[in-house]
Amino acid sequence: MKAIIVQPPKPGIEFVDLKQPIRHGNGAVKVKILENGICGSDREIVKGRLTTARPPAGKDWLVLGHEALGAVEDSVDPRFKPGDLVMPINRRSFEGKCLNCLVGRPDFCEAEEYVEAGMVGMDGFMIEYYYDDPKYLVKVPAEIKDIAILAQPLSDLEKSVEEILAIQKRVIWTCDDATYNCRRAAVFGTGATGTLFALLLKTYGFEVYMINRRDPLESEAAIAEEAGLIYYNYAKDGLDKLKRMRFDLVIDTTGGSASLIKDEVEMLKPNGILGLFGFPSEGEAVIPYDVFQRFIYKANVIVGLINGQKPHFQLALLHLAQWKAIWPGVTKRLITRVISINDEKEVIKALSEKERGEIKVKIKWD
Ligand code: BGC
Ligand code: ZN
Repeated sequence: MKAIIVQPPKPGIEFVDLKQPIRHGNGAVKVKILENGICGSDREIVKGRLTTARPPAGKDWLVLGHEALGAVEDSVDPRFKPGDLVMPINRRSFEGKCLNCLVGRPDFCEAEEYVEAGMVGMDGFMIEYYYDDPKYLVKVPAEIKDIAILAQPLSDLEKSVEEILAIQKRVIWTCDDATYNCRRAAVFGTGATGTLFALLLKTYGFEVYMINRRDPLESEAAIAEEAGLIYYNYAKDGLDKLKRMRFDLVIDTTGGSASLIKDEVEMLKPNGILGLFGFPSEGEAVIPYDVFQRFIYKANVIVGLINGQKPHFQLALLHLAQWKAIWPGVTKRLITRVISINDEKEVIKALSEKERGEIKVKIKWD
């Protein structure tokens, strides 16, 4: 059984032929992997820089990959039939000691005892076949098979929006027509997370700025145009203009310097909220007392956004189907590259470096 393994904290990857089957939970469903997506977290593991990465107990390696689309090969659970398209959920509760874990929400695990496929204490999905527990499988409609791989990264954002709207229940955040159409959002970063976040907030009715520090690439301009997003280059037009415009919601997906957080805080309107998604990789957020005073006066919030669970995967699949219908040009541009698993050199390259203009790269197994 072919698989891609890593040995954190050691950098690098290896293609191996595993003799022992990989099983999760009751292992009632045999899943054949059709595709894997590559994300920034995979690359951090491959570089040996993701400090949370660790193999399952008793081993010194783990199978990489947390974004996957599979097909049921065999099942002893009557709810799954051979041929069904399925997507595995990546974060799972470990021993279920925490109440959130017991109700299917290890994204809010208080015991910090969750595992994450391909990252934290659990084998991932860059593998030919494996056996999974139906509790952690989401059915995927065949109509969106081409873009379904985006449902895992999008699930994190569905959860984020749900959380932001729940926090904002503290005020009246809907407009005089009961929608979010009068609210303005800024999304920093235009990679997969930034683009999907911008599209999702647009779907909820926000006016959305997609922000980076360079001119848009041709594909970014086309996506912004078709979906009605506003592209903003802050290297050219400055952060001060954004601070004067003021935003109800600011999202950081850059994974860059933590110093940007100060500017993002200063962009917030009264009652506004800053969501931090992904991990800053350098720098410090120095927030002077006067900025904090205004933050308090404005009753602002900063929230960390992480991981989606089954309801969020299901919502992500519905939104992908909706986007395919209303923004067909956009959805065609979201998968920027497909690599065959047999092209090992290219797979290693894609797992090491992000390409210019990349949104989502997928590895195909069939
Ligand atoms: C995944 C999340 C996960 C996070 C932290 C991201 O790449 O998409 O679901 O919780 O990494 O490990
Ligand atoms: Zn990811």
